[in-house]
Amino acid sequence: MEQNTRVVDGRDVRGGSRDKTGFALVRLPGSSRSSGFDRDVRRGLAGPRKQLPPKYFYDARGSLLFERICGTPEYYPTRTESALLARHARGILDQVAPGTLVEIGSGSSEKTDHFFAACEQLGFYVRYQPFDVCDEALRAAAARLRSRYVWLDMELLVGDYAVDLPALPYSEGPRLFLFLGGTIGNLNHDEALTFLAALRNAMHPEDFLLLGFDRIKEKRVLDAAYNDAAGYTAQFNLNLLKVLNARLDADFDVRRFAHVAFFNEDEGQIEMHLQARCTHEVSMSRIGLVTRFVEGETILTEISRKFTPEGMRALLEAAGFRWRRHEEADSGYFSLVLVTPT
Ligand code: SAH
Ligand code: AVI
Repeated sequence: MEQNTRVVDGRDVRGGSRDKTGFALVRLPGSSRSSGFDRDVRRGLAGPRKQLPPKYFYDARGSLLFERICGTPEYYPTRTESALLARHARGILDQVAPGTLVEIGSGSSEKTDHFFAACEQLGFYVRYQPFDVCDEALRAAAARLRSRYVWLDMELLVGDYAVDLPALPYSEGPRLFLFLGGTIGNLNHDEALTFLAALRNAMHPEDFLLLGFDRIKEKRVLDAAYNDAAGYTAQFNLNLLKVLNARLDADFDVRRFAHVAFFNEDEGQIEMHLQARCTHEVSMSRIGLVTRFVEGETILTEISRKFTPEGMRALLEAAGFRWRRHEEADSGYFSLVLVTPT
């Protein structure tokens, strides 16, 4: 098995000490950027139904664009979940009494501030392990948090939550795992079940998981959330082609593709695509792949599933969790659920 690599302020150390001012960063095996990328692109673009995994959206620019999306008036999930956390963070901390918060897919960690602010009110100091595939997002979040919460002990984990959950480094329990934003919806049913079961296996009996999930609602609200007037979602989607150009020495022309996103009511999911505006070929020199796009053809770049509380409960129970607490927005737009391993 590959070893985790520990870096303190840019220096690789094994096990090692902590610099006084620096934060520790652990590279989990799935963070090795090249590992699955070439295979995923070949598999995703060589066949007739083109598709790419959404984790490749999040290079430094993609992560910034996602933050912009979160600030648009159409994208209700962030502000709705943030309001729920503002109201319930303290009660959740009382219930769990965690030694550590482990946040999966932490991004900018902004909503997590509600927990840190509640910690200050309670005089109760946790450790924080944010875990994300995007190195730059982790570092930016840590720098912001360090200046705001000087007491916060952080260890940044760079990795892929699809493979690295068994390799999480030790931290004092009970641990409160956070998986916010409705990111569970970016996994299809089988992926979500596999992910949740792996997370459950990595958890100890006294640990808790707080999961944010987006709810099924009117199609017009969902369609608008993924087609913001400022165009950030379109830029975020098209940025994937820039990631491919940079990493594969490819010649995608972003002007030849259009952002398309809509709520598929039969499947209960947003589907986000890049649609070819004309018939053309693209070459990805580094992996020797040439792909032809026919006008109107699309690459499926992301699904974002929306749930009912009953559907989410069934998924969590199938993965070995017990439903302990459910907080929902008055609008019914978004939910937080707190679960423990059965
Ligand atoms: N939790 C934040 C960010 C959500 S965006 C919020 O609620 O606003 C999704 C986050 O998950 C991004 O920061 C992205 O970099 C990260 N991510 C996506 N796929 C990942 C993967 N396979 N492993 C680890 N992190 C991933
Ligand atoms: C990260 N995830 C929960 C977002 C979502 O809503 O599915 C990603 C996103 N894609 C487009 N807009 C936002």
